[in-house]
Amino acid sequence: MKIFSGIQPSGTLHIGNYLGAIKNWVKLQQDNDCVFCIVDLHAITVAYDAKKMPQRIFELAVDLLACGISPQKSILFVQSDVKEHTELGWILSTITPLAELERMTQYKDKSGQHKENINAGLLCYPTLMAADILLYQTQAVPVGQDQKQHVELTRTIAHKFNNTFGETFVIPKPLIYNTGAKVMSLTDPTKKMSKSAGPDSYIALIDEPKIIAKKLAKAVTDPARKRIADKGHPEKCNIFTLHQLFSPAKQISKIDKDCQSAKIGCVGCKKILTKNIAQELAPFRAKRQELLVSPQTVKDILANGAKQAQNQASSMASKVKQVMGLGLSS
Ligand code: AMP
Ligand code: TRP
Repeated sequence: MKIFSGIQPSGTLHIGNYLGAIKNWVKLQQDNDCVFCIVDLHAITVAYDAKKMPQRIFELAVDLLACGISPQKSILFVQSDVKEHTELGWILSTITPLAELERMTQYKDKSGQHKENINAGLLCYPTLMAADILLYQTQAVPVGQDQKQHVELTRTIAHKFNNTFGETFVIPKPLIYNTGAKVMSLTDPTKKMSKSAGPDSYIALIDEPKIIAKKLAKAVTDPARKRIADKGHPEKCNIFTLHQLFSPAKQISKIDKDCQSAKIGCVGCKKILTKNIAQELAPFRAKRQELLVSPQTVKDILANGAKQAQNQASSMASKVKQVMGLGLSS
């Protein structure tokens, strides 16, 4: 199957990004044709520091490779290195109804958060995302729950284009995995884990075991459990959800029983989780250190990825221009 997904270079990765997206990408690349993109053009729709951007892009590439994205199996590249993304993004914006863009949840959230900078790019974010996906004849788009709406809009845009100009695009499907699709914040488990709520609310992939322990110690648990003798309700506890994502099956069922019968307290339960998360992230941290000291290798991987992506994107962009009667091609 042809797979495409993207991720913004907007700072440290957290376990929500890992479980909701990257871990699935690593599995998918084993037996699919995968294209993964560092979407720098999406990241500039909010205020950012241009001086820090190259480092952010580089570190995200390092992190993805350290998580197990393999340049032998997948194409990994930076969005702005393949100019067809902006080209098709513009074209698609001309067939996308304004009302569809205005009803996007992410646009409503972000324009609320960045009142001083509600730019047209923030509104047209989904048409650029549609261009990313449609350029590669993508069949499936692995994303977290929060991006489902954008993939649905991509389908609507692709159908409309095909109906207007003739069969051109493959209609992509969102690929959402139930486990890890929405990892909740440590400090407010009613909200999704995100960088914007501050470092105590998330566990970063680069966090050392000591930091993981500190963050988990402060994390919100079952609010009904005040004393260690109180019986717990694992199904209502964010820490238990994290156990389900990081701990071995046997341990999960033991913790479930022990918490309900007050045999284990929150402190003990968090200690086990700290150990399991640290253990899962240890190979990532080691690989990351290796890659950080060989920047040229990483840059070569991205340059080679861009070349391969460009090959595919340019033939699709020519086809689009041709069916639309644009340029000299028609
Ligand atoms: P972002 O950092 O928001 O650009 O997200 C990158 C990827 O991680 C996207 O596929 C998101 O859907 C996914 N993601 C972000 N936050 C979470 C979360 N708390 N739980 C699960 N997936 C997430
Ligand atoms: N909007 C996505 C996010 O914030 C990132 C993204 C950009 C993307 N283009 C994409 C994801 C294409 C999947 C496919 O997470």
